[in-house]
Amino acid sequence: MKEISFKRVNVEDWRLIEKMEKGAASPLFQECVDEAQYKKYITESKVFLIMFDGQAVGTISYKKMEDGTILMNGLTVLPDYREQGIAKTAMKKLLVDLGDKNIALYVHPENTPALLIYLRLGFVITAWKDNVFGNGQPRLFLKRTSNL
Ligand SMILES: CC(C)(COP(=O)(O)OP(=O)(O)OC[C@H]1O[C@@H](n2cnc3c(N)ncnc32)[C@H](O)[C@@H]1OP(=O)(O)O)[C@@H](O)C(=O)NCCC(=O)NCCS
Repeated sequence: MKEISFKRVNVEDWRLIEKMEKGAASPLFQECVDEAQYKKYITESKVFLIMFDGQAVGTISYKKMEDGTILMNGLTVLPDYREQGIAKTAMKKLLVDLGDKNIALYVHPENTPALLIYLRLGFVITAWKDNVFGNGQPRLFLKRTSNL
């Protein structure tokens, strides 16, 4: 298993998160579009850099919804660090850190690497949603239910 750690970011670090997300840009992932959106995202969510070998190689984030469900709302790995199991390890670590919680997330139906990670870790597809982010693209809604 890859040795990774998480480093929480503050709202003042929004340009760093912008750089990481733009560096990982994909038509299958909806990143923030401007400073105001990044600041809102970092204020409302817990956003972490994924650290590997002393480098920031990606991002992972979540926020707590009113009903107590955790919504995972970000997972990126920079292209030079992909296909080495970093995202899979980061997701596993986040699940351990969060403990036994109900967790939900949106993922593009063609996002194979992300789906492989989530489905293997016990998430199930519960809905198809059209145009969740207002960009005309669909998303699958996945949930992982607490055993408690
Ligand atoms: C999705 C993403 C985070 C995956 O990062 P990663 O570190 O390369 O993922 P991993 O190395 O942990 O691979 C996860 C699985 O996908 C597979 N995989 C990785 N890239 C793949 C690709 N391009 N095509 C098919 N499968 C792929 C891996 O083999 C692995 O499967 P396995 O466990 O059966 O071996 C990365 O591609 C990314 O940043 N994409 C853009 C942002 C994004 O889409 N985020 C997800 C939002 S829901």
